[in-house]
Amino acid sequence: MRVRQATAEDRDALVDLFVILNQESAFLAFEPGECERQRKNLHAMMEGNLRQEQSLVLVAEENGRAVGLLIATGSLMQRRRLSVHLIVGILQAYTGKGLGQDLMASLFEWAEKRGLRRLELTVMAHNARALALYKKCGFEVEGKKRDSLRVGDAFVDEFYMAKLLPLREGTAAPSPGN
Ligand SMILES: CC(C)(COP(=O)(O)OP(=O)(O)OC[C@H]1O[C@@H](n2cnc3c(N)ncnc32)[C@H](O)[C@@H]1OP(=O)(O)O)[C@@H](O)C(=O)NCCC(=O)NCCS
Repeated sequence: MRVRQATAEDRDALVDLFVILNQESAFLAFEPGECERQRKNLHAMMEGNLRQEQSLVLVAEENGRAVGLLIATGSLMQRRRLSVHLIVGILQAYTGKGLGQDLMASLFEWAEKRGLRRLELTVMAHNARALALYKKCGFEVEGKKRDSLRVGDAFVDEFYMAKLLPLREGTAAPSPGN
């Protein structure tokens, strides 16, 4: 298996993968079937992330087939330019093989080169595997979004998590009162 940065040519395969991931896992954002109806929006979302230089899409492949992805979405706002928001998903058959950590390692390399400060995400509070991965990779829980999702009949909490990368030399640390 290998992880590489995706290009515009990967767009359709990544949208297909995104749809399957959401069908397979109850830990992602879309209800079963909903993602399929949102294909047009998903194409636009993927296209934006593939084309914008402040964003990154990583694909994990086995024998040329996309089996996992990581999307890091940056902002066009100047004040948010050193933060990205993450989505991670791996096909069930490929979980538990360290692929999550491989995707994170490639993300960290890219983020450090770009001098990013903050990597953030939300995760369902009962997604034990994802929480274990993120904590292992240095993310910390910053807060809880209570009842932020309704999954089936149940309300579900999400955690805000983030990892701060080292300040670059010459970058001012925040000063109190500013
Ligand atoms: C969450 C996800 C990205 C994790 O990636 P992964 O490659 O499967 O990660 P791993 O299975 O290697 O697990 C990471 C760690 O969690 C641990 N873990 C696995 N299952 C666990 C569980 N049920 N409870 C607690 N820890 C668990 C593993 O032991 C591993 O730690 P270790 O390396 O110290 O042994 C992947 O499983 C996935 O895409 N799941 C479906 C979609 C999803 O949940 N996405 C995240 C939404 S925020």
